[in-house]
Amino acid sequence: MKVLVTGGAGFIGSNFVHRTLATRPDAEVTVLDLLTYAGSLSSLEGVRDRVRFVEGDVADAEVVDPLVADADVVVHFAAESHNDNSLADPSPFIRTNIVGTFTLLEAARTHDVRYHHVSTDEVYGDLELDDPKRFTEDTPYTPSSPYSASKAGSDHLVRAWVRSFGLRATISNCSNNYGPRQHVEKFIPRQITNLIDGVRPKLYGDGLNVRDWIHVDDHNDAVWTIVEKGRPGETYLIGADGEVNNRDVVRLVLELMGRDPDDYDHVTDRAGHDRRYAIEAGKLRQELGWAPRYDTFRDGLAATVEWYRENEAWWRPQKDATEAKYARTQKVLGR
Ligand code: NAD
Ligand code: TYD
Repeated sequence: MKVLVTGGAGFIGSNFVHRTLATRPDAEVTVLDLLTYAGSLSSLEGVRDRVRFVEGDVADAEVVDPLVADADVVVHFAAESHNDNSLADPSPFIRTNIVGTFTLLEAARTHDVRYHHVSTDEVYGDLELDDPKRFTEDTPYTPSSPYSASKAGSDHLVRAWVRSFGLRATISNCSNNYGPRQHVEKFIPRQITNLIDGVRPKLYGDGLNVRDWIHVDDHNDAVWTIVEKGRPGETYLIGADGEVNNRDVVRLVLELMGRDPDDYDHVTDRAGHDRRYAIEAGKLRQELGWAPRYDTFRDGLAATVEWYRENEAWWRPQKDATEAKYARTQKVLGR
């Protein structure tokens, strides 16, 4: 099978490439990635010689069209992916997430290629902490940030291409991922690498916001399950019953790193900060037989802490290169 992976030099996409080559030796993988601040060829170390790598923009039809024509399936990960950045400057989110998806959809339609769209649970807005409900495939879209609104827009385009043009497409909306090769701007790698550097963790607001954590390998196994067994036109939510509030995540990271669990600070909250995400993944589990393999968040997080400890050569150049941008964003956001 010829697989075109967009965003394959980023966090989830690169883990998808590693996992694909480990579990499907006959897969022919092409990666299309613009190598923005969030993408790095070092994330493909170990598999680089087994992958065709194309540096290019998913919003550039001239680059996209021949690559899609040559694929059996497109798995679309490429995106601007960080909420804080979308608050500081929304414009790249509109181009990459909306125009980029449109460009891929047009190519998939032209060449009648199977398309899988990787999206987020953030399109559903947020839940109250005490709400007994979780998100399902029927939850209405109410995105809060420029990031989640741009992902919601891209999901709507996919649905329209299915209905109007009969595109063979599926969508998955997953909860927060953690694991190796996640950019240091994101919550968990930021705390781990800051602690290695002797900097105290920073919790936005009261720290009681809840995220539904899933290991990146469990997410990617679910994506393959949907690509192989999902019904065209359908949406599947992906989650592993991993609800934890940010304060407890920080306390656990501190404990796993041998530090006092109370050794953190509170900082100015994120504007429009979603309170809680929670996924009900019954459709994926029952219809397609998927189940997560990481038993507990604690085990997965301990392995992730170990990975960052052992792979400073991967994250240090990224952290050095993006610290100025990070500081500017934090300033714009009043921290
Ligand atoms: P990431 O920011 O780590 O990686 C994004 C990759 O896309 C980078 O390699 C970047 O260079 C590339 N890219 C950006 N703009 C591009 C463009 N115009 N053309 C080609 N490549 C471009 O993101 P991630 O965390 O790996 O997220 C991957 C996908 O999964 C996104 O669509 C995101 O919305 C979705 N998702 C992420 C999470 C999460 O917790 N990280 C959860 C659910 C869904
Ligand atoms: P993040 O990794 O940005 O993912 P998302 O916004 O997609 O959920 O943040 C996860 C949670 O952690 C979110 O509630 C914001 C919070 N957070 C902090 O408290 N401190 C931090 O330094 C960062 C980066 C995030």
